[in-house]
Amino acid sequence: MHVLSYAVILILGLPFFNNYITQTTLKKGKHPMTYLVGGIPMLFPIMVGAGACKTPESVIPYMRRGNLLLGAVVTGSYTPDARSGNDGILSYPDEWQKFLELQFGLNAFGMPNMGYSQAALELSQLFPAPAYPVIVSIAGFSVEDYVKGLTVFQSTSAKGVEMNFGCPNAHDKKTVPIAYDIISMIQVLEASKELDIDCPIWIKLSPYVTLEEREELTALYPHLDFSNVPTVTESFLKEVLHHIMTYRQFIRAVVFSNTLPNVICRDANGKPATSPNDGKAGLSGPIIKAISLNLVKRARAILPEDIDVIGSGGILTGDDVVDYLEAGAAGVQCTSGPFWYGDGPRFFANLVIESPRLQEYLTQQANP
Ligand SMILES: Cc1cc2nc3c(=O)[nH]c(=O)nc-3n(C[C@H](O)[C@H](O)[C@H](O)COP(=O)(O)O)c2cc1C
Repeated sequence: MHVLSYAVILILGLPFFNNYITQTTLKKGKHPMTYLVGGIPMLFPIMVGAGACKTPESVIPYMRRGNLLLGAVVTGSYTPDARSGNDGILSYPDEWQKFLELQFGLNAFGMPNMGYSQAALELSQLFPAPAYPVIVSIAGFSVEDYVKGLTVFQSTSAKGVEMNFGCPNAHDKKTVPIAYDIISMIQVLEASKELDIDCPIWIKLSPYVTLEEREELTALYPHLDFSNVPTVTESFLKEVLHHIMTYRQFIRAVVFSNTLPNVICRDANGKPATSPNDGKAGLSGPIIKAISLNLVKRARAILPEDIDVIGSGGILTGDDVVDYLEAGAAGVQCTSGPFWYGDGPRFFANLVIESPRLQEYLTQQANP
């Protein structure tokens, strides 16, 4: 048969194949809600990560493909007021093949978003009863901002709120995320405790590296400048997680991790690939997978059972998903994949279709 015929059969067959896996996995499973991820029931432990759907409207293509093996969509991050974001070249590279070749992406969008109230309104209008759970990611510049976000979104159709502590642009105009500042995190969590929130709260942290690990990155990837990346001490992770544990009455998951902050990629003339902040941008994609995977493993060993760990960082294939789940993640999130691939729903369909290992894993989970 001509190679084109195979391509046509494959493309036309995708939705049916997807549907077949969904149906058989569910039929054999004990209960249609197979996974409980961070207190939220999901059909599959795979999510669209924050940043891929920056508006409620951009969630629609995922909702339309109700047969995707998708557990949830995270939308945002949203801040209290609308933001237009940065100007100039905001992401690098500009196409998928180049992203695959480089094995990383950089972004410095500056969190453009419509603000809490408008996002809450659009969520209620668009998804009174969404096909997949929607989780809202909130970011802020003060304790009050996070408190407001929790208050606004808990009364929407969102099934949970992810507090983004790892956004490089969002900490009181400082240059490092709040995830590096234990005192500020405690202040936010202390104020959140008082709210008596009745939906699951997740905390998203940064891909913490020590000075030694930063030096290893520099040696491995000499084309990238890591000199502005914040570093932590060996004991920092334990310390952060011990504080988080004291809020276990409302924290249901910790997400590792957001982008690695303040990385610069320069061309041969020294010109940075992105323009805001002198070229300092958030690094994502396969290059950060080893860091996030290691944090997932270590966090799982430290945290109590009632706080899940969710993996995020460099997931482009179904095999990557299984790596995280086997490391102890209750679920995973993908952002660079759908963002640079372009067709998000197809990206998620491919994760399963192209990975016998993930198919096997899901089948085993459904039939223990
Ligand atoms: C284009 C882009 C935008 C992002 N925007 C957000 C955001 O608004 N909020 C957030 O918590 N994380 C954001 N992230 C971080 C991702 O959600 C994710 O945690 C990180 O990039 C690592 O996963 P990945 O390698 O799959 O991208 C963004 C990442 C990218 C690539």
